[in-house]
Amino acid sequence: MREEIINTKNEAIAQITETKDVRELESLRISYLGRNGKITKLIKKIKDLNPDEKRGVGNLLNDAKRIVQDELGRKRRELAESSATKKEWFDLTIPGKKPEVGTLHALTKTLTEIIDIFTYLGYQVTDGPEIETDYYNFEALNIPKDHPARDTQQTFYIDTMGANLSFGELILRTQTSAMQGRVMEKIEPPFRVLVPGTNYRYEQVDASHGFQFSQVEGFIVDENIHLTDLFGTIEYFLKILFGQKAKIRFATTNFPFVEPGVDTYLGCTICGGKGCSFCKNTGWSEIMPAGMIHPNVLEMAGVDTKKWGGFAFAIGSSRVANLKYHIQDLRILTTPDLRILRQF
Ligand code: DAH
Repeated sequence: MREEIINTKNEAIAQITETKDVRELESLRISYLGRNGKITKLIKKIKDLNPDEKRGVGNLLNDAKRIVQDELGRKRRELAESSATKKEWFDLTIPGKKPEVGTLHALTKTLTEIIDIFTYLGYQVTDGPEIETDYYNFEALNIPKDHPARDTQQTFYIDTMGANLSFGELILRTQTSAMQGRVMEKIEPPFRVLVPGTNYRYEQVDASHGFQFSQVEGFIVDENIHLTDLFGTIEYFLKILFGQKAKIRFATTNFPFVEPGVDTYLGCTICGGKGCSFCKNTGWSEIMPAGMIHPNVLEMAGVDTKKWGGFAFAIGSSRVANLKYHIQDLRILTTPDLRILRQF
């Protein structure tokens, strides 16, 4: 048994010396000094020895146990020290991790610019509901039920879910012009208002159309407002946004809520006027429909048309972003692809 004790002790010391981490050291402690450890088992055997042997073997075993315990303690301190020094050491030459810097989305930037220009011109900014009633989206804009102009605004109808409205009366707004009636009913002229917002139409999605699109509606109601004021405002705005050399063209058009109606075209900045898929090979991009507010619209909102008149316009803000940042496809702006978004 003496030999067994000495071998066990030597084996323990050898293993402890080679240990590289604290966890390994702990499992060694258990395997020698734990309840079923090798040394513990030897201690249990002592009771079977005769009294003479007991004393000598007992002393030897106690010494072995103490030595192993000392060795475990020494090693534990050694490991603790080396890990402490490891923590303190660091390499000053390793390049740091760059924090990610976010940027504003191209649409947000465009929108901010548009708002800045018009607030400078005295416009106040507001917004309104995307879930709108048929009344404000159509009727109040001089588009009664069965008016053919409704066909141009492929409308999403909403289940009224027991609200006090019959089916067809609640829709996703198709145009931010819907805010004209809401604002005119609330505030007294004179006023200049800008309404950025999202609209929805049941459209085939392509490079220049989406079923969801951003628009900024603007309108002014005051005394002595003329068509030339509208032209001047549009030209001022587009030249700040696209530079003094921007090419601008006006054409007549029809919207039931304006008379006369005006379509504004900007020389396509993507192809430089040569013709591309974005401008449908015309060299011009339709960017800002507008017109003089129809008296019916003013009267329905309770505005006295003998005294007040006004003009209104809509800016296709997604389209402006495309033309400004030379993006051929509107869908790129709604794709959350960081490789694209980081470029702005
Ligand atoms: N709301 C119209 C549309 O989205 C655009 C529009 C045309 C707005 C003429 C206006 C305007 O304010 O005067 O189709």
